[in-house]
Amino acid sequence: MAACLTIVLAAGEGTRMRSSRPKVLHAIGGAPLIVHALAAAGEGGGPVAVVVGPSQDAVVRVIKAARPDAEIFVQNERRGTAHAVLAARSALARGAEDILIAFADTPLVTAPTLARLRAALAAGAGVAVLAFRPADPTGYGRIIADGDGRLLAIREEKDASPAERAITLCNAGLMALAGKTALAILDRIGDDNAKREFYLTDAVGIARAMGIAIVALETTEDEVRGVNSQAQLAEAEAVLQRRLRAAAHAAGVVMVAPDTVHLCADTKLGRDVTIEPYVVFGPGVTVEDGALIRSFSHLEGAQVGRGARVGPFARLRPGARLESDVHVGNFVEVKEARLAAGAKVNHLAYIGDASVGSGANIGAGTITCNYDGASKHVTEIGANAFIGSNSALVAPVKIGDGAYVASGSVITRDVPADALAFGRARQVVKPGFAERLRALLRAGKKTP
Ligand code: UD1
Ligand code: MG
Repeated sequence: MAACLTIVLAAGEGTRMRSSRPKVLHAIGGAPLIVHALAAAGEGGGPVAVVVGPSQDAVVRVIKAARPDAEIFVQNERRGTAHAVLAARSALARGAEDILIAFADTPLVTAPTLARLRAALAAGAGVAVLAFRPADPTGYGRIIADGDGRLLAIREEKDASPAERAITLCNAGLMALAGKTALAILDRIGDDNAKREFYLTDAVGIARAMGIAIVALETTEDEVRGVNSQAQLAEAEAVLQRRLRAAAHAAGVVMVAPDTVHLCADTKLGRDVTIEPYVVFGPGVTVEDGALIRSFSHLEGAQVGRGARVGPFARLRPGARLESDVHVGNFVEVKEARLAAGAKVNHLAYIGDASVGSGANIGAGTITCNYDGASKHVTEIGANAFIGSNSALVAPVKIGDGAYVASGSVITRDVPADALAFGRARQVVKPGFAERLRALLRAGKKTP
């Protein structure tokens, strides 16, 4: 018997998101809501079941990638949260000491809070619910208690009387059920309510009638914000960003305007990394110790080595790998390219599908012409090569170690090591010709 079975509910339609994308695939911190819920659920240690709606192949793919061992159940008709839990009946019937029910649309809940719910079961409760006092309780179920603080029921807003709506203690949605009575409670839940749905929240009133002990644990609003609309998605993002920035500060990252830095849940920042104001990290970024990321840079799927300097106004796209002490300056875009130690690309350049050797210097305005309209091609630049400003390197092409490319060149053939390559028109100088030209222009005559 598993100690704890976690069931994540993800079958809701998410109508209030007004989006064609399933709600649980909307992202905060660069990862879909369902991935956050699975990460917290994973801390329970036992098996994880996820309940999805019909034809949600995209959702299933994301779940399988994040948690390959998760058992997936389909709730064919969305008939409420208890109905969704029972879609996983065969997992429940296998028996587990504790059942944790988590919502995919409540992505900020932390593993210690889930552990507190389980501790309440260990202490003898048959049902443990999570409560909080939101600034605005609209839309949440209210927790009804008697004068002695004993839990009587949870009332969904649509079914609540005006007096019940005035209650500020709300249901966070998540629930823990003792395995031995879980199915007996769930099977008694009916759909006699405003939405004609099977509400998980009815477990409280039913457990009470069965003489099963119930407890409510209170937590903060930030941890249990439900995401039902775009506005709530943005609020959840704000909470996550605060957490990620606090964790970065605690790990020794220098960030003097943290509110302007957007991080992802998987952003890895080393010690003494400095992040100037207004930097955006997309998914998959690692920045090693001592690197400097200057203002208005955008990084995604990139690795930044020790002591490297990026920006201001740099764009690192997926596959950008900057080794130690590399400099990538303003208005430089790097994609699928490895820049070896000490290489410099300081101004206005595009380096894509390329490798740049150590100590190479890439001048302003250099472009790797990697795309011919049909396929992508690779540019290889050797160690200590010098690429003069405004050069176009037409891939596939190799520039050897220590080679020198003259400014303004269009390079279409390989340049051997230590060679000098010119790929530009020869300059013509006509002494005194400027005065003649001006005279012709003033007279409105045709110029040669
Ligand atoms: C639910 C609670 C409410 C609580 C709130 C906290 C119930 C009846 N109500 O309301 O008391 O205050 O969460 O955020 O539990 N789902 C399914 N299948 C369904 C219906 C829902 O899988 O048929 C899933 C959704 O994907 C979602 C979760 O269950 O992850 C909650 O459903 P939702 O419709 O968002 O419930 P709320 O109205 O927010
Ligand atoms: Mg909800």
